[in-house]
Amino acid sequence: MFRGIRGRLVSTYILIVLAAIILLEGVMVEWIWQYYIGNIREILIQQAQLANNFFKNYMEDSDLIYVAQDLSEDFAQVSSTEVQVINNAGIVLGDSIGNFAYDETQDIVDAMHGVIGIHQGEYLGTGENVMVVSSPLLKGDRVVGVIRFITSLSGVEAVMREVILLFIEMGAVVVAIVAIVSIWLSWTLTKPLNEITSAAKEISAGDFKVRLNKRFNDEIGTLAETLNQAAIELEKLDTMKNDFISSVSHEIRTPLTSIKGWVVTLKEGSDEEILRKGLDIIEKETDRLTALVNRLLDFSRLESGNNTLSIAAVDLKNLMISTIDQIRPRAQRLGIRLDVDLDEIPVIKGDASRLKQVFINILDNSLKFTESGGEIRIYAERVPNMVRIVIEDTGCGIPEKDLDHIMEKFYTARAKGSGSGLGLSISREIIKLHGGDISIMSRMGEGTSVMIELPA
Ligand SMILES: Nc1ncnc2c1ncn2[C@@H]1O[C@H](COP(=O)(O)OP(=O)(O)OP(=O)(O)O)[C@@H](O)[C@H]1O
Ligand SMILES: [Mg+2]
Repeated sequence: MFRGIRGRLVSTYILIVLAAIILLEGVMVEWIWQYYIGNIREILIQQAQLANNFFKNYMEDSDLIYVAQDLSEDFAQVSSTEVQVINNAGIVLGDSIGNFAYDETQDIVDAMHGVIGIHQGEYLGTGENVMVVSSPLLKGDRVVGVIRFITSLSGVEAVMREVILLFIEMGAVVVAIVAIVSIWLSWTLTKPLNEITSAAKEISAGDFKVRLNKRFNDEIGTLAETLNQAAIELEKLDTMKNDFISSVSHEIRTPLTSIKGWVVTLKEGSDEEILRKGLDIIEKETDRLTALVNRLLDFSRLESGNNTLSIAAVDLKNLMISTIDQIRPRAQRLGIRLDVDLDEIPVIKGDASRLKQVFINILDNSLKFTESGGEIRIYAERVPNMVRIVIEDTGCGIPEKDLDHIMEKFYTARAKGSGSGLGLSISREIIKLHGGDISIMSRMGEGTSVMIELPA
């Protein structure tokens, strides 16, 4: 449950929050402790000073040994601490609670030297922490003894323990909240990611129909959208591939049927005239098959990227005229007029046979999709740095929805006469290799215009 992004996210959040809490609460605990201890120290110091003054002003003449016990008991009453009086020989002369033992801590040493001394820490091996403040008792400048105020810190420590416990409880609540929030947060991340993963698996298993919901408008949402787009493209490609296979099979089957038919007829034996006719047809059909296979090979070569042009100076005008002459008989047979105006064409650099292939493809389309009585206009014009060749027909036109895709491989508008859907995509590849551009405009029922621009 806590592997992957979820584990990392949750543990990181908890770690950060835990560190922040420990730091913050540690500082606060230390601060509260110092505040309490500081107060106690101040109070004890005031008492010590008071005792020091009192002794100096009122008891300077009395002998310490006689007043020590009273002194300790009186000051114990006002300060509610243990008060001890020690003479300068280190003997305890009085103690408010009758405890005559003492540790020779730093405070006594300081007080014997005439200044107020402070000790905080363990005392008399009891394990109890105390605060001790000692003040010198002076006769003139001479230290005759020390008065000590001793108070236990166990009360403050108990309070501090409660404070710490409260802080730990508060910290635990905060950590729990952070844990819940971060688990929820990571869930919002991992759930859609898991969905995307399983969708991707389905897609790679060949099911291109899966679609993801875009839950959030964030990077993951974009990822889901991108995957949907990829699935749509794959689905489209899949249909195109199937269409392509069926149209290519169809195109192969038609000549094969005719060849087979003629072969059977000829095998039965026939006269010279039938034999010639049959062989003619077989030759023509074989040419058709060869042309188709060549187109497929061309396409796969262009597709795979090893497409080298053999660039040379091309007399584009001559090339166009010879191409048009080549299709003229077919146009005449179909009853389509050709209107040619190619005066504006310069010599360019390019691959002549490839360019010829492009023009044949486009002219072939115009002838296929134009009714008898129609017209194909072929003209050229100069534009800055380019030569533009336009092939315009008065044919059936291309539906608007297909226009954007018509140059994709295998794509056809399913018009009567559509073939494998490769002609235009091959043409586009070739024009692109020349650094040129090809575009199509069309209106249903009115005609189609293909514009080719080549660097000149
Ligand atoms: N001049 C045009 N008039 C009407 N439709 C056209 C014209 N040119 C192309 N099309 C449409 O565009 C589709 C794609 O053309 P493309 O030349 O790529 O393939 P094709 O002609 O069907 O097959 P192939 O060229 O491989 O024999 C055609 O099937 C047709 O629907
Ligand atoms: Mg074509």
